[in-house]
Order: sequence, then structure tokens, then C-alpha cells
Amino acid sequence: MLTLPEPSVAPLRGGPGLRWGVLGPGGIAHDWVSTLHRNTDQRVIAVASRSMERSRAFADRHAIPHAFEGHEALLASADVDVVYVAAPHAQHRPLALAAIAAGKHVLIEKPMALDAIEAEQIAAAARAAGVFAMEAMWTRYLPQSDLIARLLADGALGDVRTVTADLGWRWEFATGDPRFDPMVGGGVMLDAGVYPLWFAHSILGSIDGVHAIGSIAPTTAEVEAVISLRSATGASASLTASATATTPGLAAVYGTTGSVLFDSSFVFPARLSVISDGREHEWVDDSGLAGRDGLAWQAAALAAYVAEGRMQSPLHSLDDSIAVLRVLDEVRRQIRSQAE
Ligand SMILES: NC(=O)c1ccc[n+]([C@@H]2O[C@H](COP(=O)([O-])OP(=O)(O)OC[C@H]3O[C@@H](n4cnc5c(N)ncnc54)[C@H](OP(=O)(O)O)[C@@H]3O)[C@@H](O)[C@H]2O)c1
Repeated sequence: MLTLPEPSVAPLRGGPGLRWGVLGPGGIAHDWVSTLHRNTDQRVIAVASRSMERSRAFADRHAIPHAFEGHEALLASADVDVVYVAAPHAQHRPLALAAIAAGKHVLIEKPMALDAIEAEQIAAAARAAGVFAMEAMWTRYLPQSDLIARLLADGALGDVRTVTADLGWRWEFATGDPRFDPMVGGGVMLDAGVYPLWFAHSILGSIDGVHAIGSIAPTTAEVEAVISLRSATGASASLTASATATTPGLAAVYGTTGSVLFDSSFVFPARLSVISDGREHEWVDDSGLAGRDGLAWQAAALAAYVAEGRMQSPLHSLDDSIAVLRVLDEVRRQIRSQAE
């Protein structure tokens, strides 16, 4: 009979600490710094905004000692070990390249870049500079993701045949809203859709078949996507992403002898059921970090990787980020071509 494995994740406290700098002090940066300072030994020591006023306000709110106007000023600071790129999608590549050129390790918000070509450029620059680089695919660093990886490694589900995942948040359409502007990466795929694609790729590995249908906004940004994938081993995935309806964000992994079924959104610290050889086991994240407080795990993991001398994440490598974006590029291409 299966005993659920204990997830193993980097300790939030007591491990190596880094001095972080934040570029783009907006919504996600606020949530990320809040949980870091409350729940980990990582310390944000610098923030940079395009405006001194916003930089100072963010620094005051989070007790950050150094506030800079302009990103270059932060990147010139010798006190910063690692930079968190938290600006909108279209700024990920230029800001990541600038941070790498300044010799900083870098954590880049998801999606790592606007497309696979941009992501390849970031990865090549990081390798050439010998700095650590990682996409902030934070869900991979939650305890539930380690649990699933262990179940798969132990063969507890048998041969994995099918993955399902959905994610949807309704956005009201407004002309001029960058979320609907394809020129800056607007559309549901780079926002929500990257999560179901990452989940399927993390379970199935290399993807060699992609079929997508969807719908687009008046700006041509895709707002709905229904995606079928086939893996190189012949397994499949069925995924949806929506900006027109809010969906529960559920996911599941089905194998020949067992399955994992999320009972709450798979992108956040979750509850799930594991069924193996006909028996059901309930599992719940009892770490005390709910919702976006779970962002703390990836920062602790990154600090541990840097201390180990790694240049990328062993759980979600730069090649993984690039591979997911390649599939995402194809999904967007297919949805747009149907609308022409
Ligand atoms: N991991 C997650 O759960 C999660 C959740 C939400 C978002 N995200 C990702 O995080 C990124 C940021 O999202 P957000 O919602 O925080 O964005 P946001 O609040 O719209 O923007 C973040 C900050 O970036 C700066 N910025 C805005 N436009 C810019 C531009 N054109 N050039 C340079 N800087 C600019 C702004 O700061 P200043 O003007 O003060 O410099 C802004 O406050 C996105 O890529 C998104 O996909 C991740």
C-alpha cells in the first residue's frame, strides 16, 4: 500500500541568504517582497522604479534600505547579489539582459520572455556571463510539486497517459489595456496559459504535437485557448486557459495504476488527492503559506542553488522555460491563424 512521500523543499529559514534587488515595483513585486520578509531569511535591500517617488514609496512600505530611480542605478550597486525582474512581460528580456550584463544573478517573472527566441537570448547571455538565471515558475517550488515528482519517480501512478489543467481569470476588455495588446505580450497565453503548459511539460517532458483553438479580442490578443498536446512518448494533455471566464484552476495527472487530482487551484499551495492501486490518499499543504505567500519557496530554492554553485534551476531549467515558450508560440500562432 502506498505511503505518501514527504515533500522535500529548500528550508525557508536557516539556509543561505541573498541580498535581492527588485526591478519593477508593482503588484507582484509587492506580494513577493511581503512574503519574503515575513517568511524567509532572504532580504530585499534595493528597489528601482522609473520614478523616484514610486521607488521611495515601495522602499518605505517594505523597509528596503536603498531606493533607486532607474534600473541601471540599482544594477551598479555592488551590494545586490540577485535581481528580481518583476516588470511586465515585454520588459523581461531587456531587464534580464541588463542584470546579467551587470554580473547579477537573476529571477525573471513568468513568462520568462515574450517568445522562445527571446528566452534563448537570455539563457545564452546568462551562460556566457556565468550567472544564475531562472524563470519565476513559482508553482514548481511548492511542496505539492515535489510530492508529485516523487510519486512519478516512484512509479506510484504507473505509466502516465494523460494530464489535464485549466486556468482562467476574467478580464474586462478595455481599449488601451496592455493585457489585450499583442505588441507587449498581451493575451491569455503569456499570462495564465503559461501555467497549464508548464504543468503538462513538467509531467510529460518533450512535446511533439500541438493543436489549439481559441478566440481573440478586438485587438487580436487571444482570450481563450483550448489545447491538446502529445508528448514525445505518446502521452497526451488537455489544457484550457481563459481571460473571459474565471475557472477553478484544477489539474490532474492520470496514469495506468493511479492518479493525482487537485481539489483546489494547482498554481497555489493546494489540496489534492492521490489515488494509487484503488486507494485514495488526501494531501493538503500545511506549511501555513497560502496563496501568493507561496512565492517564498522559489526564493529560498534559488538562494540554495546559488550557494551550491549552480547556474540554473534543477527543477525548471532554462531549456524547460524555452521549451514551454516554444509550445506557447505555436498555440498563439494557431489561434491567430484561425482568426485570419
Ligand atoms: N508569479 C505570479 O503569481 C504572478 C502574478 C502576477 C504577475 N506576474 C508576472 O509579473 C510581471 C509583472 O506583473 P504585475 O501585475 O506586477 O505588473 P504591473 O504591476 O503592471 O507592473 C509592475 C511594475 O513594472 C513597471 N513597469 C510598468 N510598465 C513598464 C515599462 N513599460 N517599462 C519598465 N517598467 C515598467 C512599473 O513600475 P515603475 O513604473 O514604478 O518602474 C510597474 O509598477 C508580469 O510579467 C506577470 O506575468 C506573476
